[in-house]
Amino acid sequence: MDLYRPIFHFMPQKNWMNDPNGLIYYKGEYHLFYQYNPYGDKWGTIHWGHAKSLDLVHWEHLPIALFPSGELGEEHCFSGCAVVKDGVPSIFYTSVGSGDRHQSIGAQQWMAASNDDMVTWEKFNGNPVLTLDAHNGLDIKEWRDPFVWKERETWYMVVGGSIEGRGCALIYSSPDLINWGFLNKLYEGSEEIWECPNLFKLEDKYVLIYSPSDVVKYYIGQLNSDFSFTPEAHGTIDYSGWEGFYAPNSLADDRGRRIMWGWMTENSRGEFFGGAGWAGVQSIPRILSLQEEGKLRIEPLPELQVLREAHQRFENVIISTPNWALGVKGRALEIIAEFELHDNKTKFGLKLLCSPDGTEETIVSFDPITGHFSVDRSKSSLSNQPHSSILIGKLDLTAGEVLRFHIFLDHSIIEVFANYKECISTRIYPTCSSSMNLNLFAEEGGSVGLKLLDVWKMKSIWN
Ligand code: FRU
Repeated sequence: MDLYRPIFHFMPQKNWMNDPNGLIYYKGEYHLFYQYNPYGDKWGTIHWGHAKSLDLVHWEHLPIALFPSGELGEEHCFSGCAVVKDGVPSIFYTSVGSGDRHQSIGAQQWMAASNDDMVTWEKFNGNPVLTLDAHNGLDIKEWRDPFVWKERETWYMVVGGSIEGRGCALIYSSPDLINWGFLNKLYEGSEEIWECPNLFKLEDKYVLIYSPSDVVKYYIGQLNSDFSFTPEAHGTIDYSGWEGFYAPNSLADDRGRRIMWGWMTENSRGEFFGGAGWAGVQSIPRILSLQEEGKLRIEPLPELQVLREAHQRFENVIISTPNWALGVKGRALEIIAEFELHDNKTKFGLKLLCSPDGTEETIVSFDPITGHFSVDRSKSSLSNQPHSSILIGKLDLTAGEVLRFHIFLDHSIIEVFANYKECISTRIYPTCSSSMNLNLFAEEGGSVGLKLLDVWKMKSIWN
């Protein structure tokens, strides 16, 4: 039995994977590309791996889509996107040659096209389509990760970078995907770099997602006529950063839903032997929409419900014990727990992957005093090699609001959605094969109402 390999999260059969790339709905199928090293389970010689799906749940592996063109001096095919123009699919990505890529040396934006419905890809012989020369002397470091879309008759691209030590997104336009011109610095943050920017419309707003080598954030705001961005709200996509969720990318599906995946990093594994020959997983797909309060609503994709089996439900129970064993076991579970707060002081929540003797457990909790929810990994593993930090997020509850934790547990993965307002997604490596119990708790001296708890065992996405 493999204690750590996920069964309902996308990953290649073996080797290293990082960012999701080129997400696109094309001819009735969803395509997922990803940063891939076919030669080992560490980052290096970055190719584009490829898979497709009919339902966004089950995936079929396809041949590698992009290989570094060594004969042209290309060493890596970094992150990017895919679009379709006049029926022909094109990939845009950052081609990285030799040199210090932090200085953007050797970084250019390249294009590749497919004439066989995305099975094989040919690089455009007029590459690069965009170089640093486009910026009238502006000194841009860490320039990479194009994201392209079309509005009316014009194609737009945003690319991440760093100017004078501040991470930013830069915006370009093209009439034909081949000739690109620089429009403006869209927006900059206080962080040093911004990777993998995504800019897309939700209702009448623009959403800008960026990965600042730390916790992934978003802005919601307006795109101005000079192609600068005016933010109206700022939020967190997921509170884990390098501990579990980084460099997300997104697509618009055939129903107009904005669906996002993020790379679930393996950093938390540390030196622990948590899986032979593989590293990196994609998160479950998340649907993004606007909440009334002007922030993002982040929900798990409902199609995943086809994986549910062996449903168990608990209703209207008062929890006033520091460890209530439900008798539910599993390392691949979907859990929905709704709590009614009895007071404004009792911390409460769930304990997952608990060993029978209590030496291993991962605690998902809410503390009404601080308004924080957290994933406490300090006892997740008996080994001291995996990371054991507590990941904390801020969750604003309105008076009387029920707290809903929607949790996806998959061996070494835990993804927590808190009222679909905030997320923490991270990695855990419990050592005991018996660490599979689900318990609930309310801190000593207090109580909480469990309105509802639904638990399902989850089936594998691989047939
Ligand atoms: C983000 C990132 C991207 C880059 C890719 C390289 O994780 O650093 O900026 O394109 O990974 O694999």
